[in-house]
Amino acid sequence: MNDEKFELLYKKAKDAMNKSYSPYSKFKVGAALLTKSGKIYTGTNIENASYGLSMCAERTAIFKAVSDGEKDFETLVVIGDTDKPISPCGACRQVIAEFGVDEVILTNLKKDFKEMSVEDLLPYGFSGEELDDKNTNS
Ligand code: THU
Repeated sequence: MNDEKFELLYKKAKDAMNKSYSPYSKFKVGAALLTKSGKIYTGTNIENASYGLSMCAERTAIFKAVSDGEKDFETLVVIGDTDKPISPCGACRQVIAEFGVDEVILTNLKKDFKEMSVEDLLPYGFSGEELDDKNTNS
């Protein structure tokens, strides 16, 4: 990814992080998702007093994009105030894998970054192909 694209997505993800609603964990996360059509969707984590209803930043960004009719993704940048580049949770890895994205860039406020593929994030993940097999055989 070129520097200009990274800087823009980094800024958008950081701005989203600053909008985090995380009064329970106080752990702010931001995401910026670039579609192949050139749009950027941001997301932040949104918590709830009923903890299990909380939503992560990555899934917020992906769900916003899909709700807007976008399903082809180029780059996802995720940022948190972590010592090392933030590590997406398992649920987000599964949702990222559902749609795919060419590159995932994990980062932090120090701008350390780690670039990963979907396969790196979720090796041997469960996919809809298993369900397709069931449907064609029945
Ligand atoms: N969180 C995210 O937004 N993304 C992740 O991948 C890791 C966890 C949020 C969920 C919760 O609001 C807070 O971080 C602490 O778990």
